[in-house]
Amino acid sequence: MNNLLLQSENIIGLNYLLNDLDLSGKIDLVYIDPPFATGSNFTITNGRATTISNSKNGKIAYSDKLKGEDFIDFLRQRLILLKELLSDKGSIYLHIDYKIGHYVKVLMDDIFGIDNFRNDITRIKCNPKNFDRIGYGNIKDMILFYSKTKNPIWNEPRESYSEKDIDVLFPKKNSDGRRYTTVPIHAPGETQNGNSNKPFKGKLPPVGRHWRVDIETLEKWDKSGLIEWSQTGNPRKIIYEDEREGKRVQDIWEFKDPQYPSYPTEKNQDLLNLIIKTSSNQDSIVLDCFCGSGTTLKAANELGRKWIGIDKSDEAVKATINRLKNIKEDLFVTNKTYDFINLTKMEFNSAENMLSQNENIPIENELELIL
Ligand SMILES: C[S@@+](CC[C@H](N)C(=O)[O-])C[C@H]1O[C@@H](n2cnc3c(N)ncnc32)[C@H](O)[C@@H]1O
Repeated sequence: MNNLLLQSENIIGLNYLLNDLDLSGKIDLVYIDPPFATGSNFTITNGRATTISNSKNGKIAYSDKLKGEDFIDFLRQRLILLKELLSDKGSIYLHIDYKIGHYVKVLMDDIFGIDNFRNDITRIKCNPKNFDRIGYGNIKDMILFYSKTKNPIWNEPRESYSEKDIDVLFPKKNSDGRRYTTVPIHAPGETQNGNSNKPFKGKLPPVGRHWRVDIETLEKWDKSGLIEWSQTGNPRKIIYEDEREGKRVQDIWEFKDPQYPSYPTEKNQDLLNLIIKTSSNQDSIVLDCFCGSGTTLKAANELGRKWIGIDKSDEAVKATINRLKNIKEDLFVTNKTYDFINLTKMEFNSAENMLSQNENIPIENELELIL
């Protein structure tokens, strides 16, 4: 499959993927950043994106006018199709704000199943601001993460230690200057028989505890200098900082919005890099059906994944095409070509009559190889 940019109302686009491209169950990762029911127009003035509500100047990139129940219904229709497109090892990340996000959580629990809910990730989006209104300053939004089944693709992400982490977590230094910490080599619970309650260097585990590993392993660690004996004769395992791959990523992420976005509400590409690396593989197809300026598509391309992007806005498609041009090919990024299909000439009525409408699209006439 070629990478694909679809200009289209996304209900039409998603049905096209299901019915014409036969992609049901073939998408490993969906990231979407739909409008947040803000009641605003998002505009571009002299090439600069602005998120000022109802700005009179500039071209409208997109309008975000649906509210309340209408907005939830709008999302529901799309989420049902996205679930169908997801593979059995697939995941979906939905980016939303704190005002409507909790309703969307309930909707997603309903569609994907509460057992497949993985995280409500807090994303720090900006520096603290002075707000006039009563309430605490809002510097975060949320990303709801669900998998299709119990066994999604999961490439454990790791984060490098900060200097402060290293000071706190690895407070000791050996004679070579290597930072390390020590951890107990015994754990709660006594074992009656077996290797983990035997003496190690003549010492039994403390009462009510057992050695974490068998005696042979403890001997091996000791020989390799990986056991530190305290002044009171208590053995502990040495853990060197430079042998750790970093710390586990938690559910609060700081990826501030770009300072000079090419498109309103453009997201930070590092955020997409993390999601794509963690929840997809090299052969995966990544889909964003509210792709805006194409942040997801660019990240997926640079990480060697296949991608599909859908957006109905002319300004979004322009911004995406521009950004994709800037992908640098190198040893690892060798393919930045994609197909572009414009389905916007079709009238959209409802999800139900899409099938019959799809049969009328002269797709061949619309297909245009951009690069
Ligand atoms: C918040 S922006 C996405 C920004 C994007 N994440 C980025 O980094 O640039 C939402 C996008 O969804 C598009 N959109 C909204 N409703 C849509 C629909 N029904 N079909 C297709 N695109 C839609 C808008 O045109 C807009 O570009």
